[in-house]
Amino acid sequence: MKKRRLVYVFLLLLLIVGGKTDFASLETNSYGKWQQQWKQIEPIPIQMAVSPGGEPGTLRFSWYSKNGESKTQFRIGEEKTGKQSRKQSVITKNATPGYQYHHVEVENLTIGKTYYYQYTIEGNWTELYEVYVATTEQYQVAFAGDPQIGASVELQPTNEQKQAVCADSYHWNETLEVIQKNTTNLAFVVTAGDQVHTRNQKETLQDLFAENEVEYAGFLYPSLMRNLPVATSIGNHDSQSKNYQYHFNNPNADTGYGETDAGGDYYFIYGDVMYLMLNSNCMESEEHDRFLAWACENNPKVTWRIVVMHHDLFGAGKHSIQEEMVQLRASFIPVLRKYHVDLVLAGHDHCYARAYLPMEAQNVEQDSVTTGNFLPRDTSIPTLISMKYGITISKQILKKLVNTSNQKRTLRQQVMKKQIQAFQKVCEDTVAYHSEEGILFLAANSSTGSKYYEPCQTLPIYTAVSVQQNRSNYTLLDVSKERIKINTYYVDTREKVDQTIVLKK
Ligand SMILES: [Fe+2]
Repeated sequence: MKKRRLVYVFLLLLLIVGGKTDFASLETNSYGKWQQQWKQIEPIPIQMAVSPGGEPGTLRFSWYSKNGESKTQFRIGEEKTGKQSRKQSVITKNATPGYQYHHVEVENLTIGKTYYYQYTIEGNWTELYEVYVATTEQYQVAFAGDPQIGASVELQPTNEQKQAVCADSYHWNETLEVIQKNTTNLAFVVTAGDQVHTRNQKETLQDLFAENEVEYAGFLYPSLMRNLPVATSIGNHDSQSKNYQYHFNNPNADTGYGETDAGGDYYFIYGDVMYLMLNSNCMESEEHDRFLAWACENNPKVTWRIVVMHHDLFGAGKHSIQEEMVQLRASFIPVLRKYHVDLVLAGHDHCYARAYLPMEAQNVEQDSVTTGNFLPRDTSIPTLISMKYGITISKQILKKLVNTSNQKRTLRQQVMKKQIQAFQKVCEDTVAYHSEEGILFLAANSSTGSKYYEPCQTLPIYTAVSVQQNRSNYTLLDVSKERIKINTYYVDTREKVDQTIVLKK
């Protein structure tokens, strides 16, 4: 918060002092310069977005041009000169009034290689943009919670959307730069949804364009958006506008499952993982069930199933106790279990939270969901420890330690503390979960700081960890066939937000 206020003060000073601007040498780490550049981009929402393809070695591209522009072209190759590039067919359709969108799918790219692509704007080739195709055996994925460009509007000096977009996109760029600097084999960025803040009305076409295109322009403005594939999910702020599906060319998306105006469920494969991007704004769990059945049937050999959805079923913020979330929990949990999902990445609550739902915790019917109590009535210590800390302790060991019924309660608590301390000492800063025994849920904090929510005053019992320091976060997943290692960091200092999490099969 303090940092953002300083940025605004700096901006005001710049406005007062003024000065000459050399656009050729602009650096993105200056907010004043960022703002001057942004003024040129702001009215034209045409920026390129890169998305992962359906499988490694494929990429998908999407951008806008103004109506009436001559036939748009796209080419990609390994040469920095662009001369050896191969042309790709471009699908063009109407986007928001005044614009058309262009979608391209590129296949047969070589894993581990860097490619260069360009496209035409008003008949002229753009500069060449670099994009790396990560190797698949051990790779990284960056997970970013609600960028929600435009959401900081109430923090702005004059409460103007354009100021908020400028500031939020600056912080989005900062997060992407930190991710880029601290990864070596980054396959893609995945978001928890809410790319933008304004939920456009869908009554008229004009309304569709009216509000959120400037926010999409802000989301796509960082130059790294041309270089990094980004797999977006559909947040409640994205859900009511078709602009989402014009801007993002998602793979395996034409299924009709989980649809809202923005689009529906989609999936892609990378290495040993299937990423299942559910549109949780569609609350019909049967549709997601059918989508998961179809995706899993098509890809029976993947080791891991990671669901990405906007709503944090096991979050710790104010949304987690709302009626909508209560219903989502009750309807989604059986589906996630049915398809043996290992990990669920979500956002919505703008507050970091970790929870683990063991298979043995069966009490998830409507009543218990309402109270937030997922534990069976005769909650055992192993279940409690497993849910809160991801530690497995055999009942036999506990039985030996706890044998006097009168002292049971006290002793149990002592045992729990002792076991946890011992475990933490051995594992230092790491907590391990077995995906065969339950589902790990992570709720991301905001990746831009455009909005934060306080955790609930009384944390739900399922919450293992909840952190809110009003500082933006991002999470890095190191993915291999054997295990997924997860670290969450503050963007400003790169300090860890939570322990290192290791998810094993
Ligand atoms: Fe959000």
